Amino acid sequence: MTETLIRGRLLSFRRAPGHAGDRESYLYEEDGALLVRDGKIAAVGPYAEVKPKAGADTAEIDHRPHLILPGLIDCHVHFPQMQVIASYAANLLEWLNTYTFPEECRFVETAHAERIATQFFDEFLRQGTTTAVAYCSVHKASADAFFAESLRRGTLMIGGKVMMDRNAPQGLLDTPQLGYDETRAVIEQWHGKGRNHVAITPRFAITSTPEQMAMTQTLAEEFPDLHIQTHLSENHDEIRYTCELYPDATDYTDIYARYGLLRKKALFGHAIHLSDREADAMAESGAVAVHCPTSNLFLGSGLFPLKAIQRREKPVTVAVATDIGGGSSYSMFKTMDEAYKIQQMLGERLNPLESFYHMTLGNAVALDLADRIGTLDEGTDADIVVLNAAATPAMRLRMETVTSLSEELFLLQTLGDDRSVVETYVAGKASKPGAEA
Ligand code: GUN
Ligand code: ZN
Repeated sequence: MTETLIRGRLLSFRRAPGHAGDRESYLYEEDGALLVRDGKIAAVGPYAEVKPKAGADTAEIDHRPHLILPGLIDCHVHFPQMQVIASYAANLLEWLNTYTFPEECRFVETAHAERIATQFFDEFLRQGTTTAVAYCSVHKASADAFFAESLRRGTLMIGGKVMMDRNAPQGLLDTPQLGYDETRAVIEQWHGKGRNHVAITPRFAITSTPEQMAMTQTLAEEFPDLHIQTHLSENHDEIRYTCELYPDATDYTDIYARYGLLRKKALFGHAIHLSDREADAMAESGAVAVHCPTSNLFLGSGLFPLKAIQRREKPVTVAVATDIGGGSSYSMFKTMDEAYKIQQMLGERLNPLESFYHMTLGNAVALDLADRIGTLDEGTDADIVVLNAAATPAMRLRMETVTSLSEELFLLQTLGDDRSVVETYVAGKASKPGAEA
């Protein structure tokens, strides 16, 4: 048995905040502690109450005055796009064809996939992100590299071998049968191994023939509990072309619905330009719209109506994500900073409690994993991030005038990055690259 006592200011959400001052929506302990035992949170509360539950020789780590939160969650990222980030393109389709597809071809080389996998995990843990939902490339070896590295790190990761059989370079195409066979092989090899989860991953309707979509439907039926991830309604040219390719479908969302992919635990990247009918269909099925703000701004894709879609009579579940490499930052703080600005442009308010809820419990709920990650609740996995809102000279100066938790969170969101991440714990183990233990 290994046991650690971690002391600091605890913040963990209980539910979505109803308004900017919703004190009931979260737990906050000014002098709190977590007792971590064998990778799980064994006790949480005021330090004075948790300390007596620890063994006499239990190591104690004092992170005061820093904030302790659940590890951050990123619900949409492309693991093979670390060397695509910051590519200069006019729009989504140009960016995919000019930079992204050629780069992903390199993942046919196992050694390359393994090198980038190492870098990927280093970077995510540096940013305080302990769970990510990742697209690998079309090559099975890329999924093998991703999950093997996740197993080594002990992380809870969700990933999938991309299925795509048209409208991309030859080196990135599988076939309906190969996509099916290799996805099954990845599931058998990696799903449930360590903390790994496999997602069924048709890239998007443009790069899958109807025959391949039918195969994804078979997989979805054979594995009803698995996550599904794909892209939806990101860019107007993309929407037009997609609807031309599937002329019988009512709209873009209906394509996925026809192949049985609209369901709980199905994650639809972007979903910016949905009609009312599409939003209703998403809401009724329990599918998730994954908001990727830095990507949407970087590629000029559009302004996702986050607040409006949550306010609907039939609200759509929303997750948040970086979408590296269409996204321009690995940081979930930067991600929510841009989400905030998008809502500003739409005349809406996104308060700091909501932002931090989305990065933690909100994303865990969207993934149907809130019993494992996203909170500091007893019995959950000890994925934890320690944050310093005074990490840089500019932040320190601004912190002098901060008088509330909400203001501190807003400062972290607006000026914070990996320098604000003091430590990242994965299943109770200090794991931030370069951090002092
Ligand atoms: N649509 C299909 N593939 C991609 C991708 O890799 N990134 C983004 N942003 N959109 C996509
Ligand atoms: Zn994407």
